[in-house]
Amino acid sequence: MIWRGEGLKIVLVPTMGFFHEGHLALMKHGRTLGDRLVVSLFVNPAQFGPSEDLQRYPRDLDRDAGLAREAGVNVLFTPSPEQMYPEGYQTYVTVEKLSQGLCGASRPGHFRGVATVVLKLFNLVQPHLAVFGEKDYQQLMIIRRLAADLNLPMDIVGCPIVRESDGLAMSSRNAYLTPEERAAALSLSYALKGAQKLAAAGEKSREKILDLVKRIITREPHTRIDYISLVHSDTLEEVDILKDEARLLLAVWVGSTRLIDNALLPEARYTCCV
Ligand code: PAF
Repeated sequence: MIWRGEGLKIVLVPTMGFFHEGHLALMKHGRTLGDRLVVSLFVNPAQFGPSEDLQRYPRDLDRDAGLAREAGVNVLFTPSPEQMYPEGYQTYVTVEKLSQGLCGASRPGHFRGVATVVLKLFNLVQPHLAVFGEKDYQQLMIIRRLAADLNLPMDIVGCPIVRESDGLAMSSRNAYLTPEERAAALSLSYALKGAQKLAAAGEKSREKILDLVKRIITREPHTRIDYISLVHSDTLEEVDILKDEARLLLAVWVGSTRLIDNALLPEARYTCCV
C-alpha cells in the first residue's frame, strides 16, 4: 500500500456487503480513526457450512458502491472467490478455544473461515486498524485473539450494535424475514432488555436470567432458540453468577433465518467504540 509509505493511517472495515446502517456506522467511525478508509466486500465461502445460505446471501454491489462512496470510503475492495481461494488453496487459521462454543458449536468451521479470510484481508490491505461490529461479539473476540496471538501490528476496534428504531439488531439477514417473522424477531432485543433490567434490579443468577430470556422468546411464534448464554465478556466462558460484567449472547431461528444478538449485563451506562 503506497499510503503506508506516505505515513497515512489506513483503516479497514471488513464486510460481506448488502450495507445497512450498522455497516455505515462502522465506516463513519472508521473515517474518524485514520486518514484512508478501505472497505472490503467479500461474501466468504469459507465461513458458510454446506447447508447454509451462501447462495442466497443478499448481494447488491451497485447499491453498496454508491453507499460506500457517500460514506467517504477511499477504496471498496471486492475480490472474487477465485482470487481469494485459487486452485490449490489449503491454508486455514483456527483460533482454538474461543471458536468452539456458541456460534462455533452450531456452525462448525465457521470461525475457521472467518479467521482465515480476515487474516488474508489484513495481509492484503495492511491496515493500521480494523473495525468490527459488536453484533458478532464472538467473532470480535476471536479476531482480537488472532491479532494478539499472531502479533499483528495493528489495532482491532469494536463498535456498538446498531438497532432499528424498534430494537431489532441490524443485519443483512433481516432481509429474509417475512412481516410476521420480523415481528417475532423483536423478541430477541426485547428479551435482552428484560435481562438487563433484571440484572440492574440485582438478579445475579444465570438460571433466572436465562429463564426470563427463554420465556420471552419462545412465546413468539416462528422462534426456535439455538443458544442463549451468559459469558465472561473477554474469555466467553460461561458464568453461573453475575459478578461484574458479563455478555448475554443468543442465536435464535426465526422461521428459516438464524439471527444473533447480544447485550452487556448490567447495561452499559454509555456506549462508545473502543
Ligand atoms: O462479519 C462479517 O461480515 C464477516 O464475518 C467478515 C468479518 C467480513 C469476514 O468475512
